[in-house]
Amino acid sequence: MIVYHPLSFWKDKKILLGVTGGIAAFKAVSLASYLVKAGAIVTVCMTQHAQKLVGKSTFEAITGRRVYDDLFEGEGNIVHISLARENQCIVIVPATANIVGKVANGIADDLLSTLVLVAPRQVVVAPAMNVDMWRNPIVQENIKRIEEKGMQVIPPDSGILACGEVGTGRLKEVEDLVEEIFYRLYVPKKLCRKRVLVTAGATREWLDAVRFISNPSSGLMGCALASMARALGGEVKVIMASSSVRFPSGIAVERVETVSEMQEALKRAFPSCDILLMNAAVSDFQCPTPFPSKIKKEGRESFSLSLVPAPDLLSSITPHKGEKIVVGFCAETEDLLNEARRKLKNKNLDMIVANRITKGESGFETPTSQAWVVDRKGNEIEFPLLDKRDLAEEILVHLVRTFFE
Ligand SMILES: Cc1cc2nc3c(=O)[nH]c(=O)nc-3n(C[C@H](O)[C@H](O)[C@H](O)COP(=O)(O)O)c2cc1C
Repeated sequence: MIVYHPLSFWKDKKILLGVTGGIAAFKAVSLASYLVKAGAIVTVCMTQHAQKLVGKSTFEAITGRRVYDDLFEGEGNIVHISLARENQCIVIVPATANIVGKVANGIADDLLSTLVLVAPRQVVVAPAMNVDMWRNPIVQENIKRIEEKGMQVIPPDSGILACGEVGTGRLKEVEDLVEEIFYRLYVPKKLCRKRVLVTAGATREWLDAVRFISNPSSGLMGCALASMARALGGEVKVIMASSSVRFPSGIAVERVETVSEMQEALKRAFPSCDILLMNAAVSDFQCPTPFPSKIKKEGRESFSLSLVPAPDLLSSITPHKGEKIVVGFCAETEDLLNEARRKLKNKNLDMIVANRITKGESGFETPTSQAWVVDRKGNEIEFPLLDKRDLAEEILVHLVRTFFE
């Protein structure tokens, strides 16, 4: 399962996971498993109907904690109050039309609906149901009402539903759910109303009809930056070159392939952004006239290609950057810090992230990276080897602190 938010986010977070009687209750098992592995302390509260679909003992085995389902089981402890107070957030996955209706109207007739009324903190609800139930104006009014009261709703996806019908009502896949929950729980939203443009992935420069020059960039770092910028409240768009990773939920994406296509997309999107995170691994060279068909081996003793430098995307846009914040990324095998300082100055950047390339540990195709951040205000920060998702958070927190506080 690939996720893009900082893995440290869930560490020691106390989460009350409410599970109600929807057919997608089985996905709550994977969600609980993910959250526990990520370090969260997950307590599950199930409705009676949820237990007809998934057993209590499954959640007990996964979370290592007892599952609650009875309002009157407290033995001197008022369980709906203690559970609401002990947890930092309540996440209801899946949320039936029934629980949404109860929460929207203050009905508290079982443990889960009662503890939601007590909850002083964040409540995130992921409704899932049959398409006609979802479209029902009463359900829609209830959804609107809980949103107006400050609860966060993760809308269902469209697709084939468990009942065989097609339409909106499907619970999101677990990797998208965790991304959406993270986005809703992350505070503070320090990039609110800022338009953040991220480039990610590896460009391809075609040599003939079937071959290209590229690099092993997976796109993971770019997706992590996009996820983090969104969680900080930014309005995020990604220009995505070739990438081997699944794209994160909830972010607009434009796909490109070559440096020239990336340049065209940047020209269109750059004027309306406030921050550019130029994370794509862009080719330095290109073939001026790729062969239209496949180059054959037969009859050739040797073969040489003549390449020309590809356009330098950053240098072509920074002269017009005005008040925008432009962040460059470089990956170097040697003299990392001096290269970063040189590029920061020569390319007129506000900040540069310099990644050390060490095979297997840091740089391309690895989940971790060791990097420096250098900015035009004179800060130079060395980060230890970090998971790229955690590094993305460090980079954006530094950017906010340096340019927006
Ligand atoms: C097999 C089955 C699947 C169901 N799936 C859903 C569902 O996906 N969403 C929903 O809102 N209700 C669904 N229902 C109906 C709810 O279980 C019913 O409204 C119940 O009262 C919900 O109780 P709870 O919210 O206390 O768990 C399903 C019912 C059955 C029998």
